[in-house]
Amino acid sequence: MVCRSLVMMKDAEIEAAKEHFGKVLREQLERVERMKASPGWIDHSKLDRLIIGVVGGDGIGPYICRHAEGVLRELLKEEIAAGKVEVRPIDGLTIENRARQLKAIPDEVLAELRKCHVILKGPTTTPKKGDGWPNIESANVAMRRELDLFANVRPVRIPEQGIDWTFFRENTEGAYVLGSRGVDVNEDIAIDFTVATTQGCERIIRLAFEHARRTGVNRVTVVTKANVIKRTDGKFLSVAERIAKDYPEVKWDDWFIDIMTAKLLDPYRRAEFKVMVLPNLYGDIITDEAAQIQGGVGTAGSANIGARYAMFEAIHGSAPRMVDEGRAQYADPSSIIKAAAMLLNHVGFVEKARRLEMALDICTQFERRVRVTGRADGATGEEFGRYVLETVARKDLEDAWRKGLSA
Ligand code: IPM
Ligand code: MG
Repeated sequence: MVCRSLVMMKDAEIEAAKEHFGKVLREQLERVERMKASPGWIDHSKLDRLIIGVVGGDGIGPYICRHAEGVLRELLKEEIAAGKVEVRPIDGLTIENRARQLKAIPDEVLAELRKCHVILKGPTTTPKKGDGWPNIESANVAMRRELDLFANVRPVRIPEQGIDWTFFRENTEGAYVLGSRGVDVNEDIAIDFTVATTQGCERIIRLAFEHARRTGVNRVTVVTKANVIKRTDGKFLSVAERIAKDYPEVKWDDWFIDIMTAKLLDPYRRAEFKVMVLPNLYGDIITDEAAQIQGGVGTAGSANIGARYAMFEAIHGSAPRMVDEGRAQYADPSSIIKAAAMLLNHVGFVEKARRLEMALDICTQFERRVRVTGRADGATGEEFGRYVLETVARKDLEDAWRKGLSA
């Protein structure tokens, strides 16, 4: 009898898990249909007024975002005065508000975000089991999904070492898309899902190859663990093989994520890599490593790009400890300012973006007259923001940048 009720209990657990899986599958099939029906890329040059939303986020977010917003307003002041561009602050994407509403993104915030074309976003706190906040989904992950921001583009450059990497991290699938939708089958077994779709792989891989072609880099590295994760990583790799045929002039190769992680540290090899395209979780991990090689996660910017919307953010977290310790004003805004440069480039202000990038190279790598350390022995974010603005305005900006490159 005991045995029989045990079997029945297990059957019930399996049925409940199957039901959940069925629901998840139906949603994913619907997502595939939406991808198939996508109307294609928005053309920012055709807009009467470009709306740039600015979301401060949590922790140090509002502190550093303020300086990036200041840089945007200064560089776009003529366009703003002419009504061609609006920079629009959006409130409410705070952990307190999200926890109160038990929503990754409160509805009214999402509605505001949908009215923008591009978004500059400060870091948001991601709750995890046991940290005191309700274990709601990450706002980042939800925003990438809700606005279908499928490409996470993360450049890392160290000019003096010949390093010029651009990571194309898939942003809406992999281990993330159902990261909050796994099942505890019973108290002993937990199962998460990893998803790869043909359409999802195609669009990110194509974007990476297009970038390699357009920039003349002509080299793409596809990174997976397809020797072990046979279905989803296997699909990613086989889609890459197929797409590569459309780009005969682009040399490509494939690496496994473990050895790739090591090779980024190999001084004989690493400058050979240029454009890397990879599934979500591997992209998450390796871009932190790459940013650290560049000088720390505070130095890298991150673009989340979809056909209709795009969101630009710092690669690092919200650092609540810095706020608790009263150091938020010393937080390094260079990552979010880099994100602002990527935003400018994305919406077509290519020359302004280039000048801002050059200024950031000068301020963070070549000249470093104002150093941010995260503590009171360094400059404040505000001082650094002013330094960047003074540098962008320099008449000899290009010369100073070239001198820095060849030094
Ligand atoms: C990132 C972050 C996020 C991610 C977190 C905050 C959910 O680490 O943007 O890389 O894992 O994608
Ligand atoms: Mg990360």
